[in-house]
Amino acid sequence: MLTNPLTKNIGPQNHATDIVRYQDNGGYRGWRKALDMAPEDIVKLVQDGGLRGRGGAGFNTGLKWSFVPRGKNSPPVKYLVCNADEMEPGTFKDRLLMERDPHLLIEGMAISAYAIEARTAYIFIRGEYHVAAARLEQAIAEAREQGLLGSNILGSDYSLDIYLHRSAGNYICGEETALLNALEGRRAVPRAKPPFPQVSGLWGKPTVVNNVETFCNIPHLIEMGPDWYRSLGRGDDAGSKLFGVSGKVRNPGTWELPMGTPVREIIEHHAGGMQDGLQLKGFLPGGGSTDFLGPEHLDLPMDYDVIGRAGSRLGTGTIIVLDDHTCPVGLVLNLSQFFARESCGWCTPCRDGLPWIVKILQRIENGEGLPEDLDLLREQAQRMGPGNTFCALAPGAAEPLQSALKLFEQDFIDHIRKGCCPYQ
Ligand SMILES: Cc1cc2nc3c(=O)[nH]c(=O)nc-3n(C[C@H](O)[C@H](O)[C@H](O)COP(=O)(O)O)c2cc1C
Ligand code: SF4
Repeated sequence: MLTNPLTKNIGPQNHATDIVRYQDNGGYRGWRKALDMAPEDIVKLVQDGGLRGRGGAGFNTGLKWSFVPRGKNSPPVKYLVCNADEMEPGTFKDRLLMERDPHLLIEGMAISAYAIEARTAYIFIRGEYHVAAARLEQAIAEAREQGLLGSNILGSDYSLDIYLHRSAGNYICGEETALLNALEGRRAVPRAKPPFPQVSGLWGKPTVVNNVETFCNIPHLIEMGPDWYRSLGRGDDAGSKLFGVSGKVRNPGTWELPMGTPVREIIEHHAGGMQDGLQLKGFLPGGGSTDFLGPEHLDLPMDYDVIGRAGSRLGTGTIIVLDDHTCPVGLVLNLSQFFARESCGWCTPCRDGLPWIVKILQRIENGEGLPEDLDLLREQAQRMGPGNTFCALAPGAAEPLQSALKLFEQDFIDHIRKGCCPYQ
């Protein structure tokens, strides 16, 4: 039974960047099958498969598609957008898929566009991803040549064009509504929701935005069916996922594993465990904007709701490991500097709060912290929490900070008491 649908074409030798190899390996079978199905049946199949969006929030993909108005009275123009911005700290999974198997993404997007009745689709790609952009452009051209994209695809009455758009930069461009503004050539600031993009998105038309990895799940889900897809997961969630590990482990990287794989197995088996002489002190389970969990959470399965109940988020599924020789204050300072630099400046708690947090963390790390700084940091983190800002950047930035203040409070106190960073 196929257990690695996302990476079956990816190996040291046999990666399928060209369409001949991709098709020899079964590529575009899902697309051919989809074209014989009714769009609403595809939406239902994807919903039944239980695929949850891999961009961070984990929303059911088929359910999201079902919000797009359809039928005679619906707007005739709809758009599909692939979010390939991938700027989350510690996250490097979408790049692998786009560089090593670009046709999988094109096939997944074609099926998805057909399902929501869109005839134009965009890939919004991080500006620095030059190799991925070149391979995707080649893949789009090859698919057009073979009649798999363009007008009257494979003799049907369905037509689809996919365009690649390189981002001019900034983490906020990955937030789906800021992304839509950027695509329209406007300043990349988030839009108010509702209306959600499925109803009013790109140029005011119904639009679905999904992550690269989400789309890459679609071809095999269509070909093999929802029961097969659900059976890939080891726990509550369906399918497989690219999990990653960075930090001071022996073998950092990214691997396709069943949803629900325990954190311990990912870190100790796939990432080879901690480097010699180091102990795991904590980890961010899903990229830089998630809450720290501790060694007591190592046996948790990587499922969205399980990690949520433990007080963090599965996010992008790319784990950042903190070891006992690395300063947690320094790590949080580093992340906060990133988020402060990337704030779009639209709302006050984020625009002004993040630089203030950086200033306080910097003085603590320099050994110049004050005892009252910890309460000040807690208060600031709370002010950036959900509901207080226009988008999720600021609440995400607050997550590593607020959890570090709980889990590693003694480290913060030691910095202030000793007047220096004890890790230096
Ligand atoms: C600041 C910020 C940055 C984001 N960056 C990305 C990104 O690079 N890629 C991505 O797929 N989603 C990103 N997201 C989430 C998107 O807004 C959106 O939820 C996602 O693209 C939906 O796709 P999915 O349903 O397939 O997960 C980001 C969200 C925020 C708040
Ligand atoms: S939270 Fe930050 S990034 Fe999001 S809209 Fe407000 S200022 Fe911009």
